[in-house]
Amino acid sequence: MDLRLRSQLAGQRMALQVLRLLGDPVSEYTAERWRADPYPQLERIRQRGPLWKSLSGVWVATSYDVCSALLRDRRIGVRHADGRPPYSISMHKVPPPWMHTFLEMDAPDHTRLRRLATPAFARSKMPAYRSRIEAVTDGLVDRMRELGEFDLVREFARPLPITVISDLLGIPDGDNETFAHYGRIVGASLDMEAMSQVEEVQEVSIALRRLFAELIDERSVNPGDDVISTLVVALREDELTPEELMTTAGLLLLAGFETTVNLLGNGVRLLLDHPEQWRALCADPSLAPQVVEEVLRFETPFQYGARFTHEPIEVDTGRGIVKLPADAEVLILFGLANRDPEVFDRPGQFDIWRVPDQEHLAFANGAHYCLGAPLARLEGEIAFRTLATRLPSLRRTGPEEWRMSSLVRGVSALPVAA
Ligand code: HEM
Repeated sequence: MDLRLRSQLAGQRMALQVLRLLGDPVSEYTAERWRADPYPQLERIRQRGPLWKSLSGVWVATSYDVCSALLRDRRIGVRHADGRPPYSISMHKVPPPWMHTFLEMDAPDHTRLRRLATPAFARSKMPAYRSRIEAVTDGLVDRMRELGEFDLVREFARPLPITVISDLLGIPDGDNETFAHYGRIVGASLDMEAMSQVEEVQEVSIALRRLFAELIDERSVNPGDDVISTLVVALREDELTPEELMTTAGLLLLAGFETTVNLLGNGVRLLLDHPEQWRALCADPSLAPQVVEEVLRFETPFQYGARFTHEPIEVDTGRGIVKLPADAEVLILFGLANRDPEVFDRPGQFDIWRVPDQEHLAFANGAHYCLGAPLARLEGEIAFRTLATRLPSLRRTGPEEWRMSSLVRGVSALPVAA
């Protein structure tokens, strides 16, 4: 790592420590000690108000209504007001998989690229994917039954979404272990405290670029009915650039499993820790879609996102008007909004019978609403239903391990017996 980078990282880490010492609850929230249970610290953040300015200068949106309104507001984007990308410094020689993707673009580029990827993930496409996802799930359950005791994340929560998204993208023999490793590196590196993994992220970025370059070449000659082939056609028709094709493929792969892994791991942990709800699901597997929604609300896999105002705006927080200047950075706390007591009754209780008036914000809202939400829901529904039907005696055999990230909320290991 070069000297300039080392000093930038040291500076960032020191700034974070200073903010913690000064009592900034958001900087504190990213500290490792809150990994297993961030909610007491998140409640302290909520107590500061629905929309407030932290010591770092970043505004913090905590209430459901404010988060939802800001996500839908067209005067707010994912880039700075002058169109700069969200990062103030780039530490990477090769752009990491999340950089320069449409997740980080505003209209019109965002609209153009998202539109190209949308058809494969539309709700209407889901029935066609169902039997393939069921077959993958059944295969994993067969193996778990043979194993008897195993880590649910390793044997189920990771391989299921990785296999499904690799299939959709047309990646031959998607290598589960390698992709899981990529996901862990990228997920951890997005965290405020773990910005040090620059070198590992570089290796992942290079490996993914190589994989997609080969795949794009192959699909140009032998097109299939996969997403990459569709994007190759769009490339030929000048609807996107070769670089945009590369970044879109990387985004779809990583977004396709990095979050769903946590939906599945969090869900099984919660169900086994609430035996009456697990028994209810085993007795009536048609509850599976409700389980998915409650897991997403209660343990939101992607905990926050950042936005920038593109002009001065006034926000009615329900407790007064807050004026945001142009180019204000706002942290939208999806996970905290999903536990807002003004919207969700008994928000700190996991309850699969809950019938909420409002949809949770686990998939965000507005222009960047999760493109893969129908797929994630389908995978979750099939996964929970199949586990309840075929492994009703599933039980925990040891403590879970938490992922080292405040952004991605999930378990990295969950020892269980079938
Ligand atoms: C439980 C699983 C999932 C969760 C919780 C989740 C969550 C999210 C969230 C919160 C965002 C918006 C981020 C922001 O606005 O800052 C997002 C965007 C996105 N997600 Fe998901 N996601 C999941 C599964 C998937 C799957 C299976 C795919 C499939 C490819 C996917 C693809 C995407 C893409 C492409 C975007 C960018 C959308 C845009 O910028 O327009 N996600 N996701």
